[in-house]
Amino acid sequence: MTDYAMTIATPGDEEGFRRTPITLRAPGPGEALVRHTAIGLNFLDIYHRVGQYPWPVERDAILGSEAAGVVEAVGDGVEVIAPGDRVAYTIPYGAYATRRLLASDRLVRIPDSVPDEVAATITLKGMTAHYLIHSTFRVEAGMTVLVHAAAGGVGLLLGQWLAHIGATAIGTAGGPEKVALARDHGYTHVIDYRSTDFVEEVRRLTDGAGVHAVYDSVGRDTWRGSLACLRRRGIFVCFGQSSGPVEGLGIKELAAGGSLYATRPSLFHYIDTRNELEERARALFTLVGNGTLRAEVRQRFALADVAAAHRALAGRQTSGASVLLP
Ligand SMILES: NC(=O)c1ccc[n+]([C@@H]2O[C@H](COP(=O)([O-])OP(=O)(O)OC[C@H]3O[C@@H](n4cnc5c(N)ncnc54)[C@H](OP(=O)(O)O)[C@@H]3O)[C@@H](O)[C@H]2O)c1
Repeated sequence: MTDYAMTIATPGDEEGFRRTPITLRAPGPGEALVRHTAIGLNFLDIYHRVGQYPWPVERDAILGSEAAGVVEAVGDGVEVIAPGDRVAYTIPYGAYATRRLLASDRLVRIPDSVPDEVAATITLKGMTAHYLIHSTFRVEAGMTVLVHAAAGGVGLLLGQWLAHIGATAIGTAGGPEKVALARDHGYTHVIDYRSTDFVEEVRRLTDGAGVHAVYDSVGRDTWRGSLACLRRRGIFVCFGQSSGPVEGLGIKELAAGGSLYATRPSLFHYIDTRNELEERARALFTLVGNGTLRAEVRQRFALADVAAAHRALAGRQTSGASVLLP
């Protein structure tokens, strides 16, 4: 079968994706050739596609930030993986392809207990859930935190991981089906933020005290309310902008809110060493492999139908994780 990638010439709408034949050379020193078996779909890919985040240098860009597959060949000096290994990875671009060359030190082995489709959809999202609640802010048993878009890909993993830690997770989600799904994935309370004022509801649920941390990936539509949900010295973790970027947040608002903290983290700054990458992947694959975290794939698309996948994710039509199949 001829290898192909779904390319896009310039930032724009999803109609710009084209199926483009590709030719791959043999892996050079430190590189691995990987045949993709499944590719994860992420909101990050939408920011790249529309030009909200930096565009890759090539004109016909290959987007896609997470995948799983089999190592077909390795170059000189590769020690961490070998041909035949099942591997997964997350890097910002290049995953929307049948095969690709990669720096071998970005690959992690997938344990037998985790299927490829699952690995392809949890490597980026699950390591994100891990660093957000262990490193950006260490959530402890007994704490209460708020998570927006709780029924999304990252959201369903966060709810279960917070419950596993012993924290009380309050989620928000759009519509009754997503509310029920989030409740089934670790959240103690889920607020339909389309029909209910989430600030009032969080205040009520916490007897006026507010939450220790807010994990906000929605951005423009929620950030003001998120600050209002925090207790004194609480932390606002702004890790995405599915409704648009946060604009106008001044440092004095942190004082007015009660000596608050605010951070805008990125996964790639939390896995840049091999050790950190392996540690987070191990923690994630262990809990998914032993069933502590349920990681179902809820939407499947052919890789060639990536435009439909983008339309569904951007249009809030998906819940949990989606996969693209080459
Ligand atoms: N900083 C990092 O390291 C990092 C890493 C991974 C992901 N992220 C961020 O985490 C978030 C979740 O990623 P994901 O891939 O798992 O996506 P997702 O949560 O499955 O999808 C995004 C969800 O955001 C909600 N949303 C609210 N307003 C929206 C709007 N105007 N347009 C579209 N969606 C809207 C929708 O849920 P409702 O219908 O329930 O509102 C939608 O389903 C994204 O913002 C992503 O960029 C950040």
